[in-house]
Amino acid sequence: MLVGFSGAGKSSVGRDGAGRLGMPFVDLDEAVAQRAGASIPELFRAEGEAGFRRREAEALAALLEPGGRVIALGGGAWARPEVRALLGPSDLALWLDLPFEEAWRRVASEPGRPLVEALGEEGLRRLYEERLPAYGLADGRLAVDGLSVAEAGARLARWWRARPQAVVRPDVHAPGYPVHLRPRLLEEAGPIWGEAGVEGDVLVVSQHALEPHAPLLARSLAAAGVSARWHWMDEGEEAKTPSAVAAIWHAALEMGLDRGGTVVAFGGGVVGDTAGFAAATFVRGVRWVALPTTLLAQVDAGIGGKVGVNLPQGKNLVGAFHHPRLVLADPAVLDTLPERERAAGMAEVVKSLLLAGPEPLAGLEAAVEEGLPAWEPFIVASVRLKAATVACDPREAGVRAILNLGHTVGHALEAVTGYGRYLHGEAVAVGLVTALLLSQRLAGLDPEWTRRTAVLLRRLKLPLDAPALHDPALAPDFRRALRYDKKARRGEVRFVLLEAPGRPRVGVPVEREAVEEALAQQVRLAESLGAAEGPGAPGSER
Ligand SMILES: NC(=O)c1ccc[n+]([C@@H]2O[C@H](COP(=O)([O-])OP(=O)(O)OC[C@H]3O[C@@H](n4cnc5c(N)ncnc54)[C@H](O)[C@@H]3O)[C@@H](O)[C@H]2O)c1
Repeated sequence: MLVGFSGAGKSSVGRDGAGRLGMPFVDLDEAVAQRAGASIPELFRAEGEAGFRRREAEALAALLEPGGRVIALGGGAWARPEVRALLGPSDLALWLDLPFEEAWRRVASEPGRPLVEALGEEGLRRLYEERLPAYGLADGRLAVDGLSVAEAGARLARWWRARPQAVVRPDVHAPGYPVHLRPRLLEEAGPIWGEAGVEGDVLVVSQHALEPHAPLLARSLAAAGVSARWHWMDEGEEAKTPSAVAAIWHAALEMGLDRGGTVVAFGGGVVGDTAGFAAATFVRGVRWVALPTTLLAQVDAGIGGKVGVNLPQGKNLVGAFHHPRLVLADPAVLDTLPERERAAGMAEVVKSLLLAGPEPLAGLEAAVEEGLPAWEPFIVASVRLKAATVACDPREAGVRAILNLGHTVGHALEAVTGYGRYLHGEAVAVGLVTALLLSQRLAGLDPEWTRRTAVLLRRLKLPLDAPALHDPALAPDFRRALRYDKKARRGEVRFVLLEAPGRPRVGVPVEREAVEEALAQQVRLAESLGAAEGPGAPGSER
């Protein structure tokens, strides 16, 4: 989507760039006129500006359907929050930036510009200045002054080819943040740092397991002219503590990090949550960049701005919403990730695909059948689902709760087993099976989906059930853990259930008997698909 003031060349540059990219080009004003069967001045006369704006938003919404195209927006459309809110995670806006003097020189001599006649030079300058902040909310900026149409079109095409895989837009009044996801990104990230405004001092928080990849990151930061200090935190869930946050604050103080500085979280969800929380609180907030290095963090923890640490009384009890400025996910770093951690990450992928719809899930089933030759498309699909959900509900007040599918029992299982036996994703796999069995009963889910999902999870070497869920000695703890789950309101246990893949239902109250029956069914289902191995088995402590 090309945005910018009149005269910036949105149509000519857009047409040129679209040609280079082999994409269709659409001028939004023309699309509005075509849909309405009337010219823009006629629409203004008949329906006023309000009618035109409504038609403009409808036409744009139709054009943003899947299938790449370059769209030139009218000068004022982008300034309207309702229009910006239409952008999905894979739609991008590029601002063609031209100084006012040059824009005026171009439009003043062009016939058929009603705004020019109506406002004159001073009026138009005021409009330009009013719109500038909105143009600054675009995902990229291309300075077009002094460029020919062909040069600008070539730069547009280059920008598009290097685009992020998704943009998370938690606030229509602020720029979104890009999620770049491709192999070898770590080495090639140099230019991206600058584009995201990361400059000055950087504190990289990481863990020793990431040391093999650290030189690549160090080189890319050095190439961007950034001076970095490294802070190594301990491994494991038990390291996600307030004292780990304090250690990061101290490291930041020692290096003299100020409010212009950046914290880079280079690791899995533990590093992201802890370093992100340290960034949210240090000098009342510095920016941070997520470089997620586990599958779970790439598809989930690295995106969405939820940061925080555990207390002895429970997980994630202290935290904040603090979105990263940028997410850089390099699937190549997953090569060194232990197999069990990879499998655990796949549980969140399966969850995302269940939320996305039947086709994405069937796509993963087919890929797993072939030995999962490439998981990048599934990471991208999960990232886009999370980005779209976060955009609708940045502070988890409503629809974002769908992401808790499988987490009610998953969290309770982690709690009763002391966070030591199951990886988060493994507990989510078990919780997904419970949620699907409950969905059959309470939301009309076709049992075939439960069976297919269970087969998929088993193929991915994930547990379908956990002995701890059926241990009478742990039953009171489990019930307590369920009741105290943050998703449980007024003592009721509320689940996210599925009517069908792609059709979640949030906050469904579920009685204890129903949970217990589902757990009994879960044992039978797991047994029918082969004996449970791995974490649930005795002697498999982490
Ligand atoms: N903020 C959120 O929205 C959100 C969402 C989901 C989960 N989480 C949190 O994420 C945490 C779990 O994250 P996780 O599963 O990434 O675990 P983790 O961060 O503990 O990482 C798992 C292990 O893998 C190692 N590791 C990481 N990357 C590696 C690599 N590329 N090669 C080799 N080893 C590597 C780590 O050092 C660690 O030992 C939990 O604390 C959970 O609460 C947060």
